[in-house]
Amino acid sequence: MDFKIRSVTRKDISIIANIKVNSGYKIYDLEPTSVNIQKQKISKRMKDGNKYFIGEFKGKPIAVVTIKNPKKKFYIKNKFILFKEIKPSGEFLGLYILKKYHNNKFGQILTKYILCLFKEFGYSYVSCIAWEKNFKSLNMLYSIGFKFIGVEPNHFNNGDYAKIFTIKLI
Ligand SMILES: CC(C)(COP(=O)(O)OP(=O)(O)OC[C@H]1O[C@@H](n2cnc3c(N)ncnc32)[C@H](O)[C@@H]1OP(=O)(O)O)[C@@H](O)C(=O)NCCC(=O)NCCS
Repeated sequence: MDFKIRSVTRKDISIIANIKVNSGYKIYDLEPTSVNIQKQKISKRMKDGNKYFIGEFKGKPIAVVTIKNPKKKFYIKNKFILFKEIKPSGEFLGLYILKKYHNNKFGQILTKYILCLFKEFGYSYVSCIAWEKNFKSLNMLYSIGFKFIGVEPNHFNNGDYAKIFTIKLI
């Protein structure tokens, strides 16, 4: 399969924003949908030291994922779970695939790539969160072998929960 993963530079900010906006994220209506607003957010996250990776299918950028800067605060807020269960740990977020390319296992491929990177960094665990109603994302995480370890209010503050997942790197 012609799927390649590459790191990004600031020149890729528009590409990343477009993928995110066109990923069909189910609760997207609760987030600002404009490409311009996403560009500002991505730019800030890059400045914070988060690392983005783009997945290209047949040379076309179709997917993006982010690794949280380990020196910055975790995105997962449930401190009890973080410190009791999943330290030392890397965190990834912002996995988005253009809607028409969903269900081709690109999400799994990209996530497994991130797991290999974290292993090279010397981490024992990798964690992430997914909205409790994002069934595609939940199924993908279970397929890879992630374990559900707890919940926290999701960042949209709409009463729904985000599920917290972790995987032990062997
Ligand atoms: C979530 C996402 C990254 C998954 O990537 P993907 O390449 O489509 O995922 P995969 O093909 O690797 O796996 C999808 C899994 O969901 C299952 N699935 C497909 N449609 C589904 C549906 N409507 N409901 C529940 N599960 C579904 C698939 O069978 C597959 O499970 P399996 O591995 O057990 O067969 C992608 O769909 C996406 O970009 N969604 C929009 C953005 C988003 O929600 N990001 C996550 C934010 S936490």
